Amino acid sequence: MKLITFEGIEGVGKSTQINLLNEWLISLGYSVKLLREPGSTNFGEKIRSLLLSKESKITYETELLLMFAARSEMIKNHLTQAKEDFILCDRFYHASIAYQGYGRGLSLEFIDSLVDLIKCPIPELTIIYDLTVEKGFQRKTQDTIDRIESSGESFFKKVRTGYIDLATKRNEVHLIDANKSQDMIHEETKNLVTILINK
Ligand code: TMP
Repeated sequence: MKLITFEGIEGVGKSTQINLLNEWLISLGYSVKLLREPGSTNFGEKIRSLLLSKESKITYETELLLMFAARSEMIKNHLTQAKEDFILCDRFYHASIAYQGYGRGLSLEFIDSLVDLIKCPIPELTIIYDLTVEKGFQRKTQDTIDRIESSGESFFKKVRTGYIDLATKRNEVHLIDANKSQDMIHEETKNLVTILINK
């Protein structure tokens, strides 16, 4: 099993790219499982609703711990016994580093210790789709904005900086410019996955 995770701020087109990659991998004869975070288990989807609801008035620490609670369930239920050739996961622990670490200002060391505690596997490949905050939010309509998306422009600028830092510091993390056409982004995504397949 190879785990590939996808990251980026809101509006970068992650879901479209995951679906295109999924179709491409299936056309090559591979089996694929699609997951998303927070979520992908019954319990995790309940946590997701709580996390995204504007009615939840919670501390940043609660937000972080709930992300990892959902993640722990996903790892146990989906990752440890996966039989598929590929797992494509829409966000993983890099999102906690970018959003709760860089964005909310929580300790990066503490987040690393949570990654260790719940035994997060390191993905073979993490792709970050990168776009300016202004462009990302131009693609969103106001009525669909959830609790985290309402965190403001300066929060998302810090999140983006976090993602760029991660891509600079970690070998398995790659940045793709999400300003390009959907087709070009798909080509670059396939190129990274092809390198992984041929390893
Ligand atoms: P999604 O809408 O892309 O599925 O992600 C849900 C929201 O949760 C999105 O605003 C990013 C946020 N998030 C975090 O803040 N920390 C995390 O660890 C994860 C997985 C998501």
